[in-house]
Amino acid sequence: MSKIRLGVLGGGGDSLIGVLHRVASSMYDRYEIVGGVFNPVHDENIKFAEQIGVNTERVYVDFDTLIAEEVKKPKEERIEVVSVLTPNFLHFPMAKKLLENGFHVICEKPLTTTYDEAKELEALQKEHNAIFAVTYTYTGYPMVRHMKHMIAQGELGEIQKIDVQYYQGWINPVIHDPEIRKTVWRLDPKKAGISSCIGDIGTHAFQMTEYLTGMEVKSILADLNMLYEDNTLDIDGTVLVRFSDTVKGVIRASQIATGEENGLTVAVYGKKGAYRWEQENPNFLYHLKDDEPRRVIKPGNAYASAVAQDGTKLPGGHPEGIFDAMGNIYKGVAKALRNEKSFDGEYPNMNDGVRGMLFIEKVVESHKNGNVWLSLENK
Ligand SMILES: NC(=O)c1ccc[n+]([C@@H]2O[C@H](COP(=O)([O-])OP(=O)(O)OC[C@H]3O[C@@H](n4cnc5c(N)ncnc54)[C@H](O)[C@@H]3O)[C@@H](O)[C@H]2O)c1
Repeated sequence: MSKIRLGVLGGGGDSLIGVLHRVASSMYDRYEIVGGVFNPVHDENIKFAEQIGVNTERVYVDFDTLIAEEVKKPKEERIEVVSVLTPNFLHFPMAKKLLENGFHVICEKPLTTTYDEAKELEALQKEHNAIFAVTYTYTGYPMVRHMKHMIAQGELGEIQKIDVQYYQGWINPVIHDPEIRKTVWRLDPKKAGISSCIGDIGTHAFQMTEYLTGMEVKSILADLNMLYEDNTLDIDGTVLVRFSDTVKGVIRASQIATGEENGLTVAVYGKKGAYRWEQENPNFLYHLKDDEPRRVIKPGNAYASAVAQDGTKLPGGHPEGIFDAMGNIYKGVAKALRNEKSFDGEYPNMNDGVRGMLFIEKVVESHKNGNVWLSLENK
């Protein structure tokens, strides 16, 4: 079977996330990177393409040129799907033009910088019948998929409490110096959008609550912290979430949790049991019960659910990590592109992206209006 022809926007040698997507796309031998724009500086772009072995004839000066040149090619040679890995403000214009020109899209989160833009992309995706993934990376972990599957099977009974925490500390040394602060795009509203912490990592936590439970958050109340008056974007926040009058939870996100690295921790408590999972130790899933000692569920074992086994490449005890999680998302997209049978939630989709943007906007609005409850019903 021929490989899927993948284009990449952003994700150059200077980026954080590029390597994750490149390795992930190669993991199951389903894709070949055939072109892209890795960097806005064309010399850097070409140098990087040579370094990673991409044909420089298909490395373009900017994304408008990529689209203009690729659509001239016969369909069987043209890039099929494009990964958008640039800073947030470029996701919308790039994804919009890609959809309008018949490409499928894998887009980094947050999907856009506003909810209205996200809704526009959703309409375009429907119109063009495109595959569209939003890379909420952590949904690719086998143990996260196992949790989702087992919760849907009723293993925990009725859900009664959800607690997702995402604590990082990397902005702590940046935030206290106004000059250093200016060098970070995640703190610049023109590039990041209306939020830093909630937009960058709170959205992962929010998406995880809906992904795992299969339920939608109905309303939220937020309290954010900007720390300094001349810093306009949140760098810490706590959000109360309600799925119903009796199913409630909390999302805690921070970029100033000093010394924390990538501390995403998830707990879902049901009437019959609970799951606890930590991103920094992703191969250990804890199953808690009132009347039994806690169990540890691990990937690569025959007892794991089919969806977890499908996302595990080696036998138990061979740790797989974040590259593998993203690899599973790319595998899910490959199945969709080739009309193969797939599991529910094999890749996070447009709806996850749209819900994420609604979450960010309502969290900021709730905080600004004096920490009030706001509905999270889609418009
Ligand atoms: N899924 C995750 O867990 C995760 C983790 C980190 C970042 N992200 C997301 O990935 C995106 C990128 O984040 P990052 O940390 O890699 O950013 P970064 O600043 O490290 O890298 C951005 C890259 O985009 C390139 N770029 C900028 N403008 C461009 C343009 N006009 N055309 C082509 N390339 C351009 C830069 O040269 C650079 O290579 C963000 O939206 C971020 O939210 C997601």
